[in-house]
Amino acid sequence: MERVSFSSMEDGTKADFELLERAEREYLRDLPARLLATLEGLKNSFAGYQVSRYQHSLQSATRAKRDGRSEEYVAAALLHDIGDELAPYTHGEMVAAIMRPYIAPEICWIVEHHGIFQQFHYGAVTGDDPDARERYREHPSFDACAEFCALYDQNCFDPAFESLPIGEFAPLVRRVFSEPRYLSAG
Ligand SMILES: [Fe+2]
Ligand SMILES: [Fe+2]
Repeated sequence: MERVSFSSMEDGTKADFELLERAEREYLRDLPARLLATLEGLKNSFAGYQVSRYQHSLQSATRAKRDGRSEEYVAAALLHDIGDELAPYTHGEMVAAIMRPYIAPEICWIVEHHGIFQQFHYGAVTGDDPDARERYREHPSFDACAEFCALYDQNCFDPAFESLPIGEFAPLVRRVFSEPRYLSAG
């Protein structure tokens, strides 16, 4: 495999950086595969729930697909919790950061904030503030995020639910993450 000539970036040549650009382009092409592999890695992650995080994700994506949501939305539903194991307190932000170049800003906002909105559905029992989401009441994506949690998150822990197989979603993940359409969206 080709390698650059430098050990410090400040010594790199034009050819070195062109080589890196080629390598990076190849690496980017495999992003969908890395995302799907990360999702598969959640198959044994139950954390006390009746379904694994993998099953939870498939359930979320299946419901979104059946409701006719866009490919970006379904991809977001499928991947919204892939940060759970690495970012237990900030997984929404982590996954939104991954999605931002590829998925519309409103959907990224939903993913980023779904944790605090989810609290609405269980906070009264746990002692967490169910209305913590109210701080975002004036945000244009407030209702969309509330809807995501109600329809595609808080209810997706059902062991009897028959989800579509991952094969149904892999092609759309490849399509959505093939092009950074929102890279300059800020
Ligand atoms: Fe989550
Ligand atoms: Fe979730």
